[in-house]
Amino acid sequence: MTTTTATAPGKVILFGEHAVVYGRAAIAVPVAKVKATVTLTDAPAGAGCTIAAPDIGAHVSLSDHPQDPLALAVRLALEEAGLQAEPDWQLTVRSDIPIAGGMGSGAAVSAALVKAAFAHSEPDACAQPDAGTVNRIVYEVEKLHHANPSGIDNTVVVYAQPVWFVRGQPPLRFDIASPFHLVIADTGIASSTAAVVSDVRRAWESDRLSYEEIFDGIGETAAAARRAIVSGNVDALGPLMRANQRLLRRLDVSAPELERLIAVAEEAGSAGAKLSGAGRGGNLIAVVEYQKVEAVQEALLAAGAAGAVITQVGS
Ligand code: MEV
Repeated sequence: MTTTTATAPGKVILFGEHAVVYGRAAIAVPVAKVKATVTLTDAPAGAGCTIAAPDIGAHVSLSDHPQDPLALAVRLALEEAGLQAEPDWQLTVRSDIPIAGGMGSGAAVSAALVKAAFAHSEPDACAQPDAGTVNRIVYEVEKLHHANPSGIDNTVVVYAQPVWFVRGQPPLRFDIASPFHLVIADTGIASSTAAVVSDVRRAWESDRLSYEEIFDGIGETAAAARRAIVSGNVDALGPLMRANQRLLRRLDVSAPELERLIAVAEEAGSAGAKLSGAGRGGNLIAVVEYQKVEAVQEALLAAGAAGAVITQVGS
């Protein structure tokens, strides 16, 4: 009996969420400290293919739940790998990425499932489909989670690299001239990306002019941040995060708990903080000088954040 394991990291969007759905650029980075892991073992002959995610109490079979997101990821991978018959496989999903927290948990689970299915059906790594193929499949599954995904979440977790992302274009990698640190804090409030994205769509439909102007502002912030990151001007990032957060407030995707914890982070020494992901709950990110990361982390936990991790962007 052989076992195959595959992983995919979590992610945070540094700049540009929501506006990215409307064609503006955004920047996202993987967060390797949290990840989804899939273990695939052969099951007895005739058992079929089942997927268990014990952390969320999910147990689905490929034949009985073909439209379930977990099953769809595996089914699309099998089609791509050219396997006609359902294999006898048991896949187990574990993830420490907060669910509904804006850290790409759904995309990371799908990516780890697809990678495990490919690796198990074709153990020769050179013969396995490339990251672009994995990304295309994970994007298909993302559409089940929310109707109009920009594609940024699947792209950053599949490539596991910082990306400059514009919808419909190949993702661009970029250099990080000087590493910088983030504290990522969880409000503990679950937020549905689908619901927030569709609220923004409704608001945009009723006042396109104002919303397009906000999206332009967010896109300009992302462009300025990219210039700062590639030139090593880390000091510019805090003010840019504050500017991005002001624009996100105007989109009405922030929340009192996000605002409270953003203020805590900034009072404790962060140069600037913002929500990350769809908003209304989930996670916030705070850019912090290395000497102050622990003070900011402690302040956030003391203020009631459900979790706070320190991560370095760039190496
Ligand atoms: C969600 O992580 C990011 C959003 O911009 C939605 C999307 O890009 O599909 C809110």
